[in-house]
Amino acid sequence: AKIAEDKLAEIIIEQDELQNRIEEMGREITDAYEPGTELRLVCILRGAVMFMADLSQSINMPVTFDFMEVSSYSGTESTGTVRIIKDLEDAISGEHVLIVEDIIDTGLTLRNVVDMLETRKPASIKVATLLDKPERRDYKHIDVDFNGFEIPDKFVVGYGLDYEEKYRNLPFIGVLEEGEYN
Ligand code: PRP
Ligand code: MN
Ligand code: MG
Repeated sequence: AKIAEDKLAEIIIEQDELQNRIEEMGREITDAYEPGTELRLVCILRGAVMFMADLSQSINMPVTFDFMEVSSYSGTESTGTVRIIKDLEDAISGEHVLIVEDIIDTGLTLRNVVDMLETRKPASIKVATLLDKPERRDYKHIDVDFNGFEIPDKFVVGYGLDYEEKYRNLPFIGVLEEGEYN
């Protein structure tokens, strides 16, 4: 983490603040379901890996893990579609699904994932995101059930979030120096 810090303009969410909020989110999620409900956690690769690993430890009910990777069609973002790179391993029909995301930016990824998973007839679908950038939202109709932090429109990295696949391992959320990506 030390090596990366000199490339960051600022840290916007420190490690302890992040962890405290994630524990609180785990309690909120636990309280939102009937006792005894089994929950299928769906991690959207790759950014949500860290968040799902930590969040799941604060959810006090039986959970199972599955993973999905999607990609925006580059250059044709206006079509508003994404393609599945890696689908879920298990069927979700009749299951209570919680989609776990690191960040909602335009909303393109989540809008498409929710639409795809809804066709599979789960018992319920809810969404947990660590970060939300409401200023950037193009896809208005997304219900976010559990949101960790609203953040301003800055290029953030760390705790799963990357710039060119790097910085995912930082234990905090930081803003990259402008020279690092412009
Ligand atoms: C990032 C992030 C979200 C998505 C948010 O993923 O992890 O999944 O973009 O942006 P949107 O709301 O505009 O769709 P990315 O596609 O960079 O893949 P990654 O998780 O592997 O980094
Ligand atoms: Mn992602
Ligand atoms: Mg990314």
